[in-house]
Amino acid sequence: MKIAPSILAADFAHLADDVARVAPAADLLHVDCMDGHYVPNLTIGPPVVKALRPYTDLFLDCHLMVDNPKVLLPLFADAGADGCTVHIELGDPQPLLDEIRARGMRAGLSFEPDTPFAAVEPYLAELDLLLVMSVKTGFGGQPFIPAVLDKVRAARRVIDRDGLRCEIEIDGGIKIDNAHLAAAAGVDILVSGTGIFGADDPLAAAAAIRDAGLAARSGR
Ligand code: DX5
Ligand code: ZN
Repeated sequence: MKIAPSILAADFAHLADDVARVAPAADLLHVDCMDGHYVPNLTIGPPVVKALRPYTDLFLDCHLMVDNPKVLLPLFADAGADGCTVHIELGDPQPLLDEIRARGMRAGLSFEPDTPFAAVEPYLAELDLLLVMSVKTGFGGQPFIPAVLDKVRAARRVIDRDGLRCEIEIDGGIKIDNAHLAAAAGVDILVSGTGIFGADDPLAAAAAIRDAGLAARSGR
């Protein structure tokens, strides 16, 4: 069970400090890049990844909610990103997945709550990461959509059946009270933004989310 705090909910004026605070309970750092076109919100990009890179050894897991990832992938790679995830809703992701790999990063594919599992299934065998959105992309702090757990279960079945290396990550509305549902459905990586950085004690919240996930996974 891995935990990926989403820095979208951190204090951008004290980003390195907020990251250091949760690092002992984190396995990856989830970095939400939004361009104001793919989603109606504008967040952070390669310059912030580059600025953060010297302050953490955590895997920088960049979630690209942008219309044109192709132009940004080289910039993310140069900035020190470890992985980039692109959206199936943009069309055939194959050239982007190839480009991510060619740049030495881990390749992820994401799909919105309304997009069926069948859309991403053909790519599963070559992915490092399948990012299941449990809210519509664009903003942190939205409520978790439990119906997406059917897609997690479907992905888990195929990954286990075929012995694939792909990890399943879930993103959106994950908190201490629902982490067990995601974990029991077969999620490997829990992203949490407001569930961690919105808590009084972000480190304790991250650890508690991981513990809840671990308990559910071992009972699966
Ligand atoms: C939503 C982002 C999420 C977001 C999660 O578009 O992709 O990663 O930061 O935030 P919470 O955990 O607050 O829903
Ligand atoms: Zn995200």
